[in-house]
Amino acid sequence: MKNIVAIYPGSFDPVTNGHLDLIHRGSKLFDKLVVAIARNMDKAEALFSMPERKEMLMAMTGDLDNVVIDTFEGLLVSYCIQQGANAVLRGIRAISDYEFELQMALMNRKMEPRVETVFMMPAEQYSYLSSRIVREIAKLGGPLQGLVPAMVEERVRERIAQRHISAPRKHLL
Ligand code: PNS
Repeated sequence: MKNIVAIYPGSFDPVTNGHLDLIHRGSKLFDKLVVAIARNMDKAEALFSMPERKEMLMAMTGDLDNVVIDTFEGLLVSYCIQQGANAVLRGIRAISDYEFELQMALMNRKMEPRVETVFMMPAEQYSYLSSRIVREIAKLGGPLQGLVPAMVEERVRERIAQRHISAPRKHLL
């Protein structure tokens, strides 16, 4: 049997129940799963810093022995080789994800044929869920129950509240 190490890359800003569903599925399929937070997000739009995202992911996956949380910068395929990984795990929620995911998977394969992309579907109840939509609902005061773990919901609410307090002050300066 081969020793399959997979990288599950993403922004995870913040981690959602959909991500966690995929991490659980991936941990059953692969010998080792590295959840890798990409340092390539537009800073102005980010809700959490890289260490904060890492801390939340670690708290939520502590019970999974073969799951490791890490961060990376630069090309995903270079990081895969550096980690000795032979697979990239990505979630496909709906057909709308397919075009972008196909482009990324084929481009990654062109750059690094030793790394295969594996797509998995999260549970249907998460098929409409994304970190972007969680951030938007939270900013507009909507409910996050069932979308993210309770601890993450608390952190999101705190962060949004801090931003609301600091934003008008900045505007007045
Ligand atoms: O959670 P996201 O935003 O869908 O994750 C996208 C991510 C981080 C997986 C993607 O942007 C990525 O792989 N970035 C690393 C840079 C890279 O390798 N780009 C070329 C992709 S073909």
